[in-house]
This record gives sequence, C-alpha cells and structure tokens, in this order.
Amino acid sequence: MLKVDNLVAGYGRTRILHGVNLHVPKGGLVALLGGNGTGKSTTLKAIVGLVKPEEGQVLLDGQPIDAIPAEKRAAMGLSMVPQGKEVFAAMSVEENLLMGAYHRRKDRAGIAADLESVYGRFKRLRERRKVNAGMLSGGERQMLSIGRSLMARPTMLLLDEPSAALAPRIVEEIAEAILGLRELGLTLLLVEQNVGMALDIADYIYVIRGGRIAYERTVGDGIAMEELQEFYLGGKDHE
Ligand SMILES: Nc1ncnc2c1ncn2[C@@H]1O[C@H](COP(=O)(O)OP(=O)(O)OP(=O)(O)O)[C@@H](O)[C@H]1O
Ligand SMILES: [Mg+2]
Repeated sequence: MLKVDNLVAGYGRTRILHGVNLHVPKGGLVALLGGNGTGKSTTLKAIVGLVKPEEGQVLLDGQPIDAIPAEKRAAMGLSMVPQGKEVFAAMSVEENLLMGAYHRRKDRAGIAADLESVYGRFKRLRERRKVNAGMLSGGERQMLSIGRSLMARPTMLLLDEPSAALAPRIVEEIAEAILGLRELGLTLLLVEQNVGMALDIADYIYVIRGGRIAYERTVGDGIAMEELQEFYLGGKDHE
C-alpha cells in the first residue's frame, strides 16, 4: 500500500535521509525504530508531504504521490499523528477533535458519527470533552492527538513516537489503542524509540540509523534483542 523508494531528503542543504526504503502492506502494522535525530520524523514528513524529497519516491497504492500537496494527501486517506502530543491547548477536547474534520465540515451527520466513534474508543476523551486540551495529562493528550487524526477518516495512519514520555501503564493503553485501529482495518506506520512496545504490536520492523535503514525483520521471526541493539546503537550495517 505504501512504498518509500530510495528517499533522499533534508532541510535546505542539509541531507538527512540518504536513500530510505520502506514498505507498509495494506492492513499492516510496521514500526520504524531508531535513536534521536536519525531521520524518523523526517521520513514521516516526507510521506505526508511536509518535506520534499530530493530523490526517490513515495508511492501510495502503486501511484507516486510526490507531486500531490499535503492537504490532498490527507484527503486521500493519509494522516499523521505528529510527535510531541501537540494539541490546541486553549481549545476544548471536542473542538480539537472537530479540527481534524475541518476539511469536510459540511458533513455534519458524518462528523457526529465519527465523534461518537472516537469517544467510544477513548472513553476518557468523552468525559473530558468540554475541558481545555491544555489541562489534559500526557496520555490524554496523546489520545486526543490520535483521535483528531481519526476524525479525518484516514486509511493509513502514521504515528510519531506515541509512547514517548508516558508511564508504562499508559504506554500499554496506547499500544492497545493502536491494535484496535489495526482491527478497524487501518494501515499503520509506527515510529518508536520504545523497542519493547514496537516488538509487542508490530508485524515488521525497520531500524533507521544516520538516515539509512540499518536493519529490517519480520517480528516473531526470531529477532534477537542483542542483534537488534547492535544495529540500533551502531556498529553493524544492513548490506
Ligand atoms: N526543520 C528542520 N530544519 C533543519 N533541521 C532539522 C529540521 N527538523 C529536523 N532537523 C534535523 O534533522 C535530523 C533528523 O531529524 P528527525 O526529526 O527526522 O529525527 P528523529 O529520528 O525524528 O529524532 P527524534 O527521535 O529525536 O524525534 C536532526 O539532526 C534534526 O536536528
Ligand atoms: Mg522525531
């Protein structure tokens, strides 16, 4: 469904990605792991159209989408939950969710149904729907950020470090929510630094290092933690 083919990209004259290749099959849950500053967010931004590739391609269902602007990609079903649990702090939980459906704001009945479905999935958001988002806990903000993306009715969701800076119990809740999204039929690309969490829920993992994929493997295919650490922290390379 999503293919990233030899992606070279960066900011200004600084190259960050040096030929990244990734594949996320329809209905799959693929994790992209890597340390700080290795190019994980840059990869996601290139996929949704916020960073322009210098070389290579992003293909959705076999079609190159590099010429398509970010808003149109969102309308095509591609949605990103950005890093850092960003929410509109001065707006209520519900207003934040409605922002996610802004591009189809005339579809009142559809939006009401989608709100119901997000509240059904994240019960705490329903309880706190009138509360300003700035008052939420980290876990609630992450749920809100995911909920806002869901309001855009994506078919493919990219999540950028949803478990970061959360207590283990909340990480588990987020992991379960992600598995729930998969059951819903969404195709998922999960960026994580929490290797344990990613191995628990993903079916395939990539490790990025220095803007290149250093390791990839099917989960359950006898991934040796030690080997993974070695690729993760440096030393070994893919080819
Ligand atoms: N807007 C920007 N302008 C210039 N450089 C940037 C910009 N955003 C990121 N970078 C740099 O690009 C490199 C890769 O950043 P990126 O955000 O992709 O890393 P990451 O793997 O997501 O890291 P982290 O786990 O810390 O979020 C870093 O060196 C970062 O400083
Ligand atoms: Mg990042």
